[in-house]
Amino acid sequence: MELWKKARELTAALSLEEKIGMIHGAELFRTKGVERLGIPPLVMSDGPMGVRQEFAPDQWKGIGETDDYVTYFPCNSALASTWNRKLAGEMGSAMGEEFRGRGKDVALGPGINLKRSPLCGRNFEYFSEDPYLTKELAVPLIQGIQSWDVAACVKHFAVNNQETERLWVEVDIDEEALKRLYLPAFYDALKKGGAYSVMGAYNQLYGEHCCQSQYLLGDILRKEWSYDGVVISDWGGVHDTKKAAESQLDIEMSVTYDFDQYFMANPLKQAVEEGAISESVIDEKVERILVLMMRLHMLDGKRKAGAYNTEAHRKSALAIARESIVLLKNKRSVLPLREEGIKRVLVIGENGVCLHAAGGGSAEIKALYEISPLMGIKKLLGGNVQVDYLSGYCREQEKKEGEINWQETSLENGGGTRLAESGTWRRELSRRRKALRRQAVKTAALKDYDQVIFVGGLNHDYDCEGLDRADMRLPYEQDELLTELLSARPDMIVVMMGGSPVEMGRWIHLADSLVWCWYGGMEGGTALAEVLYGRVNPSGKLPESFYKTIKDCSAHCVGDFGRKDTAHYREGIYVGYRYLDAFHIEPEFSFGHGLSYTSFSYQNGKIVTEGEETFLSCLITNTGDRPGAEVVQVYLRPEKSSEDGGNVPFQELKGFEKVFLEPGETQMVYIKLEGEGLGGRIAVGASSKDIRMLL
Ligand code: BGC
Repeated sequence: MELWKKARELTAALSLEEKIGMIHGAELFRTKGVERLGIPPLVMSDGPMGVRQEFAPDQWKGIGETDDYVTYFPCNSALASTWNRKLAGEMGSAMGEEFRGRGKDVALGPGINLKRSPLCGRNFEYFSEDPYLTKELAVPLIQGIQSWDVAACVKHFAVNNQETERLWVEVDIDEEALKRLYLPAFYDALKKGGAYSVMGAYNQLYGEHCCQSQYLLGDILRKEWSYDGVVISDWGGVHDTKKAAESQLDIEMSVTYDFDQYFMANPLKQAVEEGAISESVIDEKVERILVLMMRLHMLDGKRKAGAYNTEAHRKSALAIARESIVLLKNKRSVLPLREEGIKRVLVIGENGVCLHAAGGGSAEIKALYEISPLMGIKKLLGGNVQVDYLSGYCREQEKKEGEINWQETSLENGGGTRLAESGTWRRELSRRRKALRRQAVKTAALKDYDQVIFVGGLNHDYDCEGLDRADMRLPYEQDELLTELLSARPDMIVVMMGGSPVEMGRWIHLADSLVWCWYGGMEGGTALAEVLYGRVNPSGKLPESFYKTIKDCSAHCVGDFGRKDTAHYREGIYVGYRYLDAFHIEPEFSFGHGLSYTSFSYQNGKIVTEGEETFLSCLITNTGDRPGAEVVQVYLRPEKSSEDGGNVPFQELKGFEKVFLEPGETQMVYIKLEGEGLGGRIAVGASSKDIRMLL
């Protein structure tokens, strides 16, 4: 309360012009301060995988200094794959320390939109198709960030689930699905996680742009949730002075350089002077901004200093990368690979050498370094093993280093599009790819390679802001390459990298192994090599369903996705496994799936109620011969009643715990289940499909 009183007093001492300066971007990533009263500007920076490079104040151009390299953390999909709340907190704390170390006040992340379709180009920035898993990891992440006197800015509020026409697309969703599926992670991020700020989304909902929406920002955020933090627009997400000023938006940011002409800059000042808009709406915004500043100790000189590129942060990045890797298939236990007695290893696939940090849109990172898979493998095996590399495929084109950043033009033509390759270029590429393929297959077939490892998948040409994939197929003719390679070399290890699943139907039956990694940060290659060679036992679990084809995804076969005018969310609450389970559709790999090099048994499952709260207790034993971790997942299979109108999923994740066990060790896990009145059966298992106990 003291904070609010002080904020009110300070606001009263400000002129209209000074207040206006505080509520819109005066540079691309900062507002104006009020020097005479010791109010600093608010300095913001992307993004979800670490602190972004420094930009010129009024140009989308990196300033090109050498002092803004940072720790590059795994993407949020990777973090979600760890199912490890403690690691999420650790990543948050390391990130917060970096943001503060780089002098930032607001970290523009995490992105917590649900993964409604695998084709959304920004999926790698998001956690999961499941709101519970999303928030369980987002909350400690946010708390970690904020422990360094830096505000997390949770984004993009709300239903920003496609990039196509992202600035204008209208989301048509029934309120029940909105509230049950798309809003809960935001609620928890803001209320439990205590995020000091939130970013509005570009798209429209119920006829209003989210960044100036009465419904979302007024009715839901401020009234229903009593949220008193700062609402920041997405860059260029505001479209109207009066609507924005009279909504609960606090700061308008944009991508253009005419800062004084932003809707909440001079046009707003003029409207207030003319009496068309009340000054009190501005006062409220300024008060909230001042409270934010006080929460971050920006006004009392007691602020933490932070640090970046520390050894400890690199260790955290590695720890998260290790636990994020998902072993999807391991027939005949072909993995882990042996280190002893091998002389020659062949790595095939461009993702073996591709560095990903600098791509993806606003999530781009100027990484201090990035260990590629090839380097990880070489680093691990040492100089006595010869590791050869062949690309096997090639991408469309190398990224061109342009004069300006893509962001300057990113909002033209609706702000987002769908990918397509051009015709003539495709023929030329096909010719080149055929040659690369022939060479790779011929080499892989040679007897003198002890091990052949394929590292392919997607990259940020596909997983990228402002773009949605056209389909779920693997690009660059990798299907053909994999089919031929696996026929020539059936024991080839397959590693896939990407922010979203790809179709695997043409080759998965030929592969004994499949390892999935996301964009794993600067130590991703180290972690991958450790998993492949068994120095780390994989423990990641899929935070989303891996569909066989895009037709199995409800956003595509029931609702629609990627339309320019209105995206109809006809599937309602049936997103991801909620849809697959209800309609008996087999995914390639199910939500929660992930193998280990050891095995676990589940025993003595019991439901315990303590007052209003429900717990699941059970015994987990490591029945194999090496240390490992299991994610015990608890799903509620609700009873159907006539009142629910049929809107009842077959099962929903309500709790989980990651348990670390030595060989032969047994531990009792005690898992608090989310929600009240948990009527129905409780399913406990190692994935949404691999249920070991039904209570
Ligand atoms: C993105 C945001 C980002 C902002 C600032 C926008 O284009 O949607 O996620 O934080 O730019 O770079």
